[in-house]
Amino acid sequence: MRHARLLFVALALTAACDCNESTDESASTTPTPAEPAPEPLAALEAPEVNMDKVYLGRRLFHDPILSGDGTISCATCHSLDHAGAEPRRSSNGIRGQVGPINSPTVLNAHFNFVQFWDGRAANLQEQAGGPVENPLEMGTTFPEAIERVKTDAWYVERFASIYGGEDPINKENITDALAEYERYLVTPSPFDAYLAGNQEAISEQARRGHATFKEVGCASCHMGVNVGGTMYQKMGVVQNYFEARGGELTEADMGRFNVTQAESDRHFFKVPTLRNVALTAPYFHDGSIEALDEAVRVMGRVQLGRDLEDNQVADIVAFLQSLNGELPEHARLPEDETPPSRAAAPAEGEAPAEGATEG
Ligand code: HEC
Ligand code: HEC
Repeated sequence: MRHARLLFVALALTAACDCNESTDESASTTPTPAEPAPEPLAALEAPEVNMDKVYLGRRLFHDPILSGDGTISCATCHSLDHAGAEPRRSSNGIRGQVGPINSPTVLNAHFNFVQFWDGRAANLQEQAGGPVENPLEMGTTFPEAIERVKTDAWYVERFASIYGGEDPINKENITDALAEYERYLVTPSPFDAYLAGNQEAISEQARRGHATFKEVGCASCHMGVNVGGTMYQKMGVVQNYFEARGGELTEADMGRFNVTQAESDRHFFKVPTLRNVALTAPYFHDGSIEALDEAVRVMGRVQLGRDLEDNQVADIVAFLQSLNGELPEHARLPEDETPPSRAAAPAEGEAPAEGATEG
């Protein structure tokens, strides 16, 4: 009982945190072995999903049929071979257009309290409507995409059997199936086994890194099941990140401000998940940092005002690597469901559309 109350107080403290030195103090009051410090991170628990919808969403996710010129699928920018993110600084959409911001991973995205860096979508289904009609991404409209989906017999059969009704191939059901597939993309890691009580599931260095991660204050923002995804925070709490980065400020750099127009939200971003982060370089909303150890150092400086020691950085990186998870068994699209080429024949005088999708 006593323990439970302590835990509650500590959680309340962390929740109220504004991530300055005061949380550091509470984190570094040495816990006695009898009363271990509360754990701000939590093990994954996969939500229940409808597998028929997952399989439908999986093919839609990998199918360029949802893009205006038939060359871009969700997987182009969220490749399973890159842990659900992309290896580029920012996305390339249809006709080679370069987007303004780095794509976050779709793995475990279900656990984020809102979607997008600036939180402009409340959940996965709402989010899935965005890229299809984004002119820099898939560049089409739902009515057009729906007409194309209706020409594919595989989809006609699946939508009818899963959703039924008069006209089952519609925006509501397409985004529902995409979201169900993403809810399935949960990746348990060695760190989850460790949290469940298996001390040996992660290395000694990773265990040290976990302790350091909490001690220096990373976990005051990167907390919960997703080691992130529970709040907005400023990029550059203690030091100005954008000055140190250099270059022009972009609209994307404004973060949550773009949604609320509130001065207090300028440069605020959803604290990203750190699950699989060792596999999703480059880092930050602007994709400006290639190496994970460098991203950790930058976080130490701009968020906590600390120059982390080399050994602290190495330990934290080892901890972050223990968050690399396993894709669920049916995440990948089987060969025999691979959609045919969707690229439209080039109109007269136009160069043929450039090559296709990954993942
Ligand atoms: C052209 C590249 C591109 C394509 C195609 C694309 N995305 Fe994204 N995706 C992005 C970028 C970039 C972001 C971040 C945008 C932002 O936050 O402003 C993003 C964000 C997301 C997020 C939010 C994750 C989070 O943690 O906030 C989800 C989920 C997602 N995309 C799913 C999809 C789905 C489903 C599709 C297909 C219907 C899709 N994406 C197509 C580039 C792409
Ligand atoms: C004050 C809150 C806060 C603290 C403290 C904090 N972070 Fe972050 N972290 C963020 C935010 C916000 C972002 C996204 C910033 C951006 O993309 O511009 C981020 C991004 C990251 C990223 C890049 C993730 C990606 O997918 O691009 C890593 C890695 C990271 N943090 C690790 C750490 C580590 C390690 C610590 C402790 C040394 C730490 N963070 C402390 C808020 C915080």
